[in-house]
Amino acid sequence: MTNFSPSLSFAQQLDSQDPLASYREEFVITDPDLIYLDGNSLGRMPKVAQEKAKQVVEEEWGQDLIRGWNKGWWEAPARVGDKIGGLIGAAPGQTLVSDTVSLNLFKLATSALTLQPNRKRIITDTFNFPSDLYILQGISTLLDGRDAGSRDHEIIRIGATDDDITPDIAALESTINENTALVTLSHVVFKSGYLYDMQRITELAHAKGTLVLWDLSHSVGSVPVRLDDCNADFAIGCTYKYLNGGPGAPGFLYVNEKIQDKLTSPIWGWWGQKNPFDFDLDYKPAPGAQRFLVGTQPMLSLLTMEAALEPTLNVGMDAIRAKSILMTGYASFLTDTWLAPLGFSLGSPRDSAQRGSHISIRHADGYRINRALIEEMNVIPDFRAPDNIRLGFSSLYTSFVEIREGFDRIKRVIEEKRQEKYPKQKLTVT
Ligand SMILES: Cc1ncc(COP(=O)(O)O)c(C=O)c1O
Repeated sequence: MTNFSPSLSFAQQLDSQDPLASYREEFVITDPDLIYLDGNSLGRMPKVAQEKAKQVVEEEWGQDLIRGWNKGWWEAPARVGDKIGGLIGAAPGQTLVSDTVSLNLFKLATSALTLQPNRKRIITDTFNFPSDLYILQGISTLLDGRDAGSRDHEIIRIGATDDDITPDIAALESTINENTALVTLSHVVFKSGYLYDMQRITELAHAKGTLVLWDLSHSVGSVPVRLDDCNADFAIGCTYKYLNGGPGAPGFLYVNEKIQDKLTSPIWGWWGQKNPFDFDLDYKPAPGAQRFLVGTQPMLSLLTMEAALEPTLNVGMDAIRAKSILMTGYASFLTDTWLAPLGFSLGSPRDSAQRGSHISIRHADGYRINRALIEEMNVIPDFRAPDNIRLGFSSLYTSFVEIREGFDRIKRVIEEKRQEKYPKQKLTVT
């Protein structure tokens, strides 16, 4: 346990001892005064990705044209999937880059449910990202028929314990029964950053014969994940947060090889067909996880994202996690020391074993404070209703002096009442 101090010299000392400090130079930083604490939504741009984007456009698209498909484009979803697999504890052949997180959830959850037609219960939690909840609701409507008088599938959302931060694991355990087809959760939840114990939850579910699907959007690239060791069944995740893949970069899916060939994708596209260039008139699934591909992948974005993985792959997840724990611990300390007297509370777990790489600081006027930070303090966090200002820390480019300066500017907003000039009416994207 580090004894933190709020002094500038302490932050400078942490930076001077940081083995990853030099990686900041591998990112495009055009405004040194900007305090960027939103890498949990959109990571900064790695220089290697910027160069790759230029090369892909000028050479691969501009010169190779259609020949690119035989020069590595066609295999890209599996090749890049295996690289991501290395970050999430997945042996090759189980991870594919494809589509968006939401679409990957649709494909995998639908196939998990149709595999077990006699099990009707789906368990998730109230902390899950809303898109995940909507996708589950849509799937159950689709499977049961929109006009059915009574729905077959039942979606149960586990709530919080008294602290409003920690999921009620005892309730989760007692809700999983022999009728439960699927447990699906965000490994690190999007508001508080709570980190589930993947091994334990997966074991609880398997004990009842239930399949488990993990959304790794906030854990890939920030927390070590061991999908194969935990015997997880499915996972999905995104590449534009801690993997720095760029806005709208494609997502990924993981299917444990033990169940791949039992599954049917709900979307039969030609990229998931056994021999797409035979142009058969009837669909036959490709072997393994490949059947979950649908159509042509966005190559500019996918290849740029592949390059963006380099700093993460070079550093490795253990060093990333060690710095991340130190950063979230330091930020929690500054919240208690500087911000609690100004009306803030920490909206994230205090135990580092239970949190990812972002924290939420809660304040009744959080939305307007967040706007003042962005518009006049050159600090970029994000806001998640009703009262969470989310601060994300990337081990590859966030410095301790930057974190301290960010907290100092948050403190100044309140002390100078800067938030009061902003309307309560929210902008479209918060
Ligand atoms: C945890 C989580 N799941 C799912 C999504 C949705 O991802 P997409 O828009 O790529 O479908 C997000 C987006 O931020 C997310 O944070």
